[in-house]
Amino acid sequence: MVFVLSLAPICLAADLASTPPMGWNSWNKFAEKVDDKTVREMADTIVSTGMKDAGYIYVNIDDTWEGERDAQGNIQSNKKFPDMKALADYVHSKGLKIGIYSSPGPKTCAGYEGSYQHEQQDANTWAAWGIDYVKYDWCSADKIYKPTEMQAIYKKMGDALKATGRPIVFSLCQYGLQNVWEWGGSVGGNLWRTTGDIEDNWKSMSTIGFDKQAGHEKYAGPGHWNDPDMLEIGNGGMSATEYRTHMSLWAMLAAPLLAGNDLRSMTKETHDILENKEVIAIDQDKLGRQGTRVSKEAGAEIWTKPLENGDLALALFNRSEAMVSVKAFWEILGLKGKHKLRDLWAHEDLGSFRDYYSREVVAHGVVLLRIAR
Ligand code: GLA
Repeated sequence: MVFVLSLAPICLAADLASTPPMGWNSWNKFAEKVDDKTVREMADTIVSTGMKDAGYIYVNIDDTWEGERDAQGNIQSNKKFPDMKALADYVHSKGLKIGIYSSPGPKTCAGYEGSYQHEQQDANTWAAWGIDYVKYDWCSADKIYKPTEMQAIYKKMGDALKATGRPIVFSLCQYGLQNVWEWGGSVGGNLWRTTGDIEDNWKSMSTIGFDKQAGHEKYAGPGHWNDPDMLEIGNGGMSATEYRTHMSLWAMLAAPLLAGNDLRSMTKETHDILENKEVIAIDQDKLGRQGTRVSKEAGAEIWTKPLENGDLALALFNRSEAMVSVKAFWEILGLKGKHKLRDLWAHEDLGSFRDYYSREVVAHGVVLLRIAR
C-alpha cells in the first residue's frame, strides 16, 4: 500500500507571518488619496531604497479602493484602480506581495463597499487578483451584528480566505474589542489590532506602545501577532528621536512593521530609522517572543525581549521631558556576571559589563542594546 502525504499546504500555512509582517500601508499618509500610480511607485521605491532587502515585502492598499459590485455581485475596484489584477502582477514582478482591505459590514470605515453577505465571493475575487494580505476592519458591522457574533464573523472570512487555497495573511482590525488577542488566532488571524488608530504624535504613539500592549505578550508568536497599528515614522509629527523610540518599541513588541509614510520623498534620517537592520532583527527574531517591561521609574522604562540565539534585547526608554540616567541591573534581567553589549542605533560594540549597565537617555529617547549570553 502506498501512502501519499501532501505536506505543501501545511507548510505554507505555517510559514505565513512566521515573523511579524513587514511592508507599507497607504492609510496613515494617503487616506483616500491612494491610487494605482501611488501604489506602483511605492513598490518601485521599496526596491530602490533597499527596503525590500531589509524585509519590507507587503504593499498594502487600505480603504478607498472599492467600487460598485457588478450584476453578479462581484466586487470591482473604483476608477482610482483601473485593474487590480494588473496592479498585483506589477507588485509581484518586483518580488513583493500585495495587500487589500475590507470590512465585514456593508460599508467600510470610509464609507466604501464592504464584504457583507459576499464574504466567500470577495475572498475568491481577491485570490484571483493575486492578493496576499487582507485587512478586515469592523467599521459598520456593529450596525448589523450583535457583539456576541463578532468572533464567528471574523472566522467566516478566515475560513473563506483559507478556502481559496491561496496563502493570504489575515489582519483583524477591530481596535482590540472583546480581548481579541485571546481569540484572534483561533479565527485564522495572523495579526490583530490591539487599540484604536495611531496618530502621528508622541502622546498617541507612546500611549499605544508603552501602556496598551502589556498583558498581551503571551498571545504573540510565529503566525499570530499583536498589532499596535502601523508606523508613523517619517510623517512629520514627531522628532527623529521620537521616531527612533517608535521603531525600537515596535521591534521590542514583535509588532508588524508597516511603514506609513511617503517612501518616495523620505529623508535620509527616515530611511535610516526604517532600515536599521539591527533593530529589524530584534523585531523579526525567529523565536517570536513579544518583549515586556521589567521596570518603570520616573519616566524611565526598561524592556527586554529574549532572542533565538540566547541573546537578550534590552531597551532603555525615557518617556520624560528631561534627560535621565537609566541603570539596568543584570539581576532584574535574570542575568549574572559579565556580558558583552552592542548599541543597535550607534552600531557599536560597547564592551563587557559586570552586574549592570547605565546610560544617559535623552527626553523621549531610547538606547537599544543587544546583550550577548
Ligand atoms: C479604521 C482603521 C484604520 C484605517 C481606516 C480606513 O479607522 O482602524 O487603520 O484602515 O479605518 O477607513
